[in-house]
Order: sequence, then structure tokens, then C-alpha cells
Amino acid sequence: MALRHIGLQDYEEISALVRESAEMHRPWMPGQAITSYEIFESYLTRFEQPINEGFVICLRDTGAIVGRVNVNNIVRGTNQSGTLGYAAYASTTGRGYMTEGLNLVIQFAFGELGLHRLEANIQPANTPSLNLVKRLGFQREGYSANFQFIDGAWRDHERWAITIEQTS
Ligand SMILES: CC(C)(COP(=O)(O)OP(=O)(O)OC[C@H]1O[C@@H](n2cnc3c(N)ncnc32)[C@H](O)[C@@H]1OP(=O)(O)O)[C@@H](O)C(=O)NCCC(=O)NCCS
Repeated sequence: MALRHIGLQDYEEISALVRESAEMHRPWMPGQAITSYEIFESYLTRFEQPINEGFVICLRDTGAIVGRVNVNNIVRGTNQSGTLGYAAYASTTGRGYMTEGLNLVIQFAFGELGLHRLEANIQPANTPSLNLVKRLGFQREGYSANFQFIDGAWRDHERWAITIEQTS
């Protein structure tokens, strides 16, 4: 698995993957789906700021994109913390790609980015996402009622996190 920053050149590939994954993403993903070049362009502007980093997970042999991971809302100073957002796609899920890819992001965040803690906020019914962070050693920190507006309503989320001390 390979990790690289997301860019405008990824529009065609990502928009096709997002299209095939609409039903899979709808209950869990915040924000606007990438349904036009303009939306993608405006989505990418967040990564011009140092508080957000956007990555794609690719297959090493073909370069095909199999997932996406963001480290958002990076807080520096005495926190050195970031919030994760991630997704696989209908044709790429259930193969272990995200476990390997998110692990690469964690290593990059704790290495190059100099972060100390990463958190993921996950709806209690999102079993694949809970399984993913558990596999990678995240700990459950708490429960945030009405945490994020997704699919038409304010949704409760569990807060999971990993610090550099918890990585092997
Ligand atoms: C959350 C999400 C990214 C998890 O992706 P995923 O495809 O389950 O994760 P992986 O790619 O690591 O695949 C792991 C699964 O593949 C299975 N698998 C199959 N072959 C495998 C292999 N060769 N190696 C490892 N795992 C394999 C694992 O058993 C595991 O399934 P399990 O959890 O039922 O045991 C995905 O479900 C998703 O995109 N959901 C919609 C968006 C979303 O919820 N985002 C997160 C919001 S908090």
C-alpha cells in the first residue's frame, strides 16, 4: 500500500469511486459528496492550510486509489493533535486496504507531521469503522451526544484516539 497527498489530478478517479459508494457513505460521511469538479476543487482548498492534510491510499503496483484519509483540525502547541476522517469505496472495502493505509497515515502523522495524538469520531452503529480503529490500537475515550450533522440529523459519536505511546 502507498500513501500520497490528494490533488486535483485525482478528480476523475475519486468522483467515480464516490459515485459507486453513495449508499455506503451516506449514513456515515459528513460534508458534501464530490459530484463535480468545482466541488472537488473547493474541497481541496482546505488542504492549502497547515491545519488539514489530505491523503489517498493507493495500491503499490497499479497506483489505483482504494481509500482516502484526512488529518483535520490539527492543533499544535502543547496538544499536537489531529482529527481523522476516512473512507474506503464500494469496490475496495473489506480487503484490509484501510487497515494498512490508515497505519501509514498514523506513522506519517507521528513522524513527519510531528503529531502526538489522533482522534476518530465514529457513530456507535458504524461497526466497520469501529473495527478498523480497534485493530490499529485506538482506545475509546468517550461518547459525544449530537456530535455531528450527517445525513439530515445530529448524530451521536464515540470518540476514539491513539497517542504515540500506544503505537508499537
Ligand atoms: C470505515 C471503513 C473505511 C472501513 O473499511 P474496511 O474496508 O472495513 O477496512 P479494511 O480495508 O481495513 O478491511 C478490513 C476488513 O476486510 C477483511 N479482510 C478481507 N481480506 C483481508 C486481508 N487480506 N487482510 C486484512 N483484512 C482483510 C477484514 O476481516 C476486515 O473485515 P472485518 O472488520 O469484518 O473483520 C469503510 O467501511 C468505509 O469507508 N465506510 C464508509 C465511510 C465511513 O464510515 N467512514 C468513517 C467514518 S467514522
